Amino acid sequence: MSLFNQEMDQYCSDNSSQLNEVLIALERDTHLKTLAPQMMSGPTQGHLLMTICKMLKPKSIIELGTFTGYASLCMAYSTEDDCKITTIEVNRELQHISQKYFIKSGLDHKITSIQGKAEEYLKHHDQQYDLAFIDAGKQNNRLYFDLLIPRINAGGFILIDNTLWSGKVLYPSKDRMTTLLKAFNQYLTTLDNIRVHILPIRDGLTMIEVL
Ligand SMILES: C[S@@+](CC[C@H](N)C(=O)[O-])C[C@H]1O[C@@H](n2cnc3c(N)ncnc32)[C@H](O)[C@@H]1O
Repeated sequence: MSLFNQEMDQYCSDNSSQLNEVLIALERDTHLKTLAPQMMSGPTQGHLLMTICKMLKPKSIIELGTFTGYASLCMAYSTEDDCKITTIEVNRELQHISQKYFIKSGLDHKITSIQGKAEEYLKHHDQQYDLAFIDAGKQNNRLYFDLLIPRINAGGFILIDNTLWSGKVLYPSKDRMTTLLKAFNQYLTTLDNIRVHILPIRDGLTMIEVL
């Protein structure tokens, strides 16, 4: 079961402003060249990321899980020129696509692409960030969150994708991933130093304000 089905996503997309030509071409290329294009944020979530960036005005962003670079580019387009975006992807086969579009956008100077495991990167680097987008291995959400939370500046945000897991979190389940995600969603509600809010768009986007 999906809460936000493809038809609804298409309707929202058709009735929203068009994103620019580079993002449209990247979306098309992702559909042509990857096996799971649905992993890409796409226009609906892309617009949301852009709005968040416009409002928050972050100077430093980290994204875990670049895929073909769609979300990285949305954030690059909607931040000031001195904003630094670090994005980490474990699958080296995808890098030629993301790099091509980062260069095409003319914003590649804002984006540092790291090839490797997000958890390893976070264990060995301790920069501070204004915004984090967690969108890599969903089984590691708790690990990523615990590593990131001390590094988010007060007033900053952590966004986490796919936290409603196609609606499976609503029901009893023995599935390992669903169980992990339900436990993670519940864990966030026990913490004091954050304000957490799950937005039911697409596959669920958790928004966490660091107080
Ligand atoms: C849902 S996609 C990311 C989509 C992208 N953020 C966007 O919005 O278009 C998840 C990506 O995380 C990558 N990934 C999975 N485990 C990872 C890990 N441990 N470290 C870094 N990347 C990982 C996958 O290879 C995949 O490309």
